[in-house]
Amino acid sequence: MKKIDVVLGLQWGDEGKGKVVDVLTPNYTVVARFQGGPNAGHSLHFGDKSFVLRTVPSGIFRDGSINVIGNGVVVDPVSLTEELKNIAEQGIPVKEKMLISKKAHIILPTHRMLDAASEAAKGKSKIGSTLKGIGPTYMDKTGRNGLRFGDVLAEDFIDRYNKLKQKHVEMLSQYEGFEYDVTEYEKTWMEGIEYLRGFKFIDSEHVVNKFIDDDVPILAEGAQGSLLDVDFGTYPFVTSSNTVCAGVCTGLGVAPTKIGDVYGIFKAYCTRVGSGPFPTELFDETGKELGRIGHEFGAVTGRPRRCGWLDLVALKYAVMVDGVTQLIMMKSDVMNDFDTIKVATAYRVNGELVEHFPYEVTGNVEPVYTEFKGWKCDICKVRRYEDFPAEFKAYVEFIERETGVPVKIISVGPDRDETIVR
Ligand code: GDP
Ligand code: IMO
Ligand code: MG
Repeated sequence: MKKIDVVLGLQWGDEGKGKVVDVLTPNYTVVARFQGGPNAGHSLHFGDKSFVLRTVPSGIFRDGSINVIGNGVVVDPVSLTEELKNIAEQGIPVKEKMLISKKAHIILPTHRMLDAASEAAKGKSKIGSTLKGIGPTYMDKTGRNGLRFGDVLAEDFIDRYNKLKQKHVEMLSQYEGFEYDVTEYEKTWMEGIEYLRGFKFIDSEHVVNKFIDDDVPILAEGAQGSLLDVDFGTYPFVTSSNTVCAGVCTGLGVAPTKIGDVYGIFKAYCTRVGSGPFPTELFDETGKELGRIGHEFGAVTGRPRRCGWLDLVALKYAVMVDGVTQLIMMKSDVMNDFDTIKVATAYRVNGELVEHFPYEVTGNVEPVYTEFKGWKCDICKVRRYEDFPAEFKAYVEFIERETGVPVKIISVGPDRDETIVR
């Protein structure tokens, strides 16, 4: 093969990437994160255990797996240390299984403060950021001021840290009335840096390309979702990285010709956490039901997720931009009791029918729905596609026809075992 396969979210994040990567890992030796940072929360459930991973790739719990934090990721030493220590407590040899790119940028305590100050200043038009310092860290990266993991090894690391911190302190002074104190957090941050020194810092582009050349099965794990991409998402209500498939090339240093299968994950409905446009959002009882049955609360912030019907206009757009080769549908079980299920197949914008995802998705975008009869039974125990009710198959096959991509995996519950591979 000599390719790298990709798993990514096609909506506004939280599609179930953590579960899918964990399910697919027996087929892969290496799992690599290519963008994002601790704004991600990827949930894994197996047996009686549950974990939420933030920066660590979701392959970490599988025996023999190697897990790479790529150059495109931004890393908070505090959050990563906490995560790794928790995983180590489970008897997982994290120091052997985890590799960190020297080119991955580091989130400073003051990056988090800048995130908070910027959001506060935006008032009502705030992004709804997870406030983990993601935006300011990527700004320093593109502004050519950032600190990278490779710098931790430099003798003058602390000087470089203080220089960047000082710049942030000056920036923060511009935000009138914004008060902060990073003294305590800074101590924990320094301890995190010391702990992480015990890990292997690698030239990840060389290592990843060697895996590919040696035909070692390797999977890239996306964070967030395509509609949160800084270029193609619902800007400015997006995250600060390229969450789409192209992000694998820049975030790991692999050529586009080396991309193999692209698994695009979507929920059988739609959710979004934070601000920004969401054409199929439901404000009624059905929306509340989706949230209640689907336990739709942010894995990182605990905020309730906004819920609505599946949006095929947006999904087709993501499939196009990502070059999805196989679809994975999650959480269909949440709609087991629904009489009717709706799917947006077009938008009406200022009275005109539009079938493509428009430049601006604002309040004047009205979804046009196709209705489906609900399957009205519990599908959680189904393990073979043939055993699904006809109404459910009609829903899946409609999505396949509309997108032109096969739905290869269907998830009917949070556990590893609640998965049907066709
Ligand atoms: P990620 O960020 O894409 O990894 O997704 P999250 O972990 O933030 O959110 C997905 C949530 O849905 C988690 O709580 C999962 O345990 C849960 N989940 C995943 N797949 C299914 C499914 O098929 N059915 C149900 N009911 N829950 C699921
Ligand atoms: P996973 O990987 C859902 C959202 C935030 C906010 C916007 C910008 O678990 O799917 P940021 O912290 O990046 O400045 O926030 O993006 N967001 C996510 N929403 N899932 C995520 O990650 C997200 N990461 C960021 O809510 O609207
Ligand atoms: Mg999540």
